[in-house]
Amino acid sequence: MGNAVKTLHKVLFKNAQDMNDVPCESVDLVVTSPPYPMIAMWDVVFAEQNPAVEEALRRDDGCGAFELMHRELDKVWTQVYRVLKNGGFACINIGDATRTVGGEFKLYPNHSRVLSYCLKLGFSALPEILWRKQTNAPNKFMGSGMLPAGAYVTLEHEFILILRKGKPRRFRDADEQRRRRESAFFWEERNEWFSDVWEDLKGAKQNNIDKAIRDRSGAFPFELPYRLINMYSIKGDMVLDPFLGTGTTMVAAMAAGRNSIGFEADPNFKRHIFHRFAGIVDFANQQIEARLRRHVAFVKEKTKTHGALGYINRHYGFPVMTQQETEIFLNELRRIEIDDAIVKVEYGENVSIFFVKGDLERKGKLLPPLSI
Ligand SMILES: C[S@@+](CC[C@H](N)C(=O)[O-])C[C@H]1O[C@@H](n2cnc3c(N)ncnc32)[C@H](O)[C@@H]1O
Repeated sequence: MGNAVKTLHKVLFKNAQDMNDVPCESVDLVVTSPPYPMIAMWDVVFAEQNPAVEEALRRDDGCGAFELMHRELDKVWTQVYRVLKNGGFACINIGDATRTVGGEFKLYPNHSRVLSYCLKLGFSALPEILWRKQTNAPNKFMGSGMLPAGAYVTLEHEFILILRKGKPRRFRDADEQRRRRESAFFWEERNEWFSDVWEDLKGAKQNNIDKAIRDRSGAFPFELPYRLINMYSIKGDMVLDPFLGTGTTMVAAMAAGRNSIGFEADPNFKRHIFHRFAGIVDFANQQIEARLRRHVAFVKEKTKTHGALGYINRHYGFPVMTQQETEIFLNELRRIEIDDAIVKVEYGENVSIFFVKGDLERKGKLLPPLSI
C-alpha cells in the first residue's frame, strides 16, 4: 500500500451504462454480479432500462426478452472493458436461468451469452469457476418425476467468469513488487481458491446485513469477492463493481486493503451500503484474524503429518510452506471516515498478532482457538 496506508472508496448511485466518472484504463480488477436475465425478480429492472423487455415477456417471447436484457448488460461490459487497465481482470458471477414462458420450460444460458459478448469486446477467457450452491429444497427436481424423457436436471451452480484484458500484467517498480509479495496468499488457500469448483461458500457471515435484504438483493457472500480480490489484485489496486447491490465487493476491497468504486442504480440501497461500511473495522479485522488462525491450524496439522515447514513468515513469525509466503502481511484496519461521497479507510502498518510458542498471540494474550 505504499507508505500511506489508507484506501479510498466511492459509491455512485447511477446507471453503470454511463461510466464517464471513471477514466479509461484506471481500474485493476472488476468483481461483480449483474441482475440475471430471465430471473423474474430482475424483470422490472430490465424493463425500466428498456420497455421492450416487458412487451417481449407479454408476448411470451422468452428468447427475445433474453436478448433485450443482455443488450442492456452489454453496455456495462463495454464500459468495464474501457476502464480496465491492460492486464486487468474482470470476474463476473452469473447464473443461468430456467423459466417457463408461453408454456415452454427451458434454460436461458446467461453465462454463455455474457462470455460471447465479452470475447467480442476483446477479453481473453481464462478457466472459470463453477460455484456450487446445493439446495435441499423438496421441490428441487423439476419435470416428470421418475418417468423418463421429461425430467430436468436441477440447476445448483452459478459461474464466475474470469476474463483478462490484454497480456498478463507486469509488476514494474519496486513498490508494486513489494505490494505484490505482501499480497500473496497461503499455500493451502491457493489449493482451495484455485480449484475450479467452489463448494457452498458459507464462510464469514455478512457484516451488518439482514437475511431479508440479502435475499432480496441477490447479494453474494463476503467470501466470494474477498477471494477474487486476493487472487487477482494486489494491495493498493483499484477494484470496481458496476452492480454494487448491498456493497459486498466494496466491503471485501476495504478488508483486503484495495481501493474501490461502486455503481448502483437503485438509491434505496444507500442506507444498507453505508450501514455495512460503518461496521467495517471490526468485521474486517475478524476476517483477518480468522485467516491467520486457519493458517496456524494448518501449520499444526501439516507439521504433525509431514514435519517442520520449510520457511518462516517474516511479519508473523509462523511457518509457511513456500518462499513466496514469507512476506504475506494482512494490514489490520484502524479507522474509517465516511464523508458523503468518499470513504477513507486507514490501516495499521505494524503487525499486532504474533506467532509465539506455536500459537497466535495479541499483546501477550492467546487468541481463542478456531473451530474448524
Ligand atoms: C445481483 S445484484 C448485486 C448484488 C451484490 N453483488 C451484493 O452482494 O449485494 C445487482 C444489482 O445491480 C443493480 N443494477 C442493475 N442494473 C444496473 C445498472 N445498469 N447500473 C447500476 N446498477 C444496476 C441492481 O439494482 C442490483 O442492486
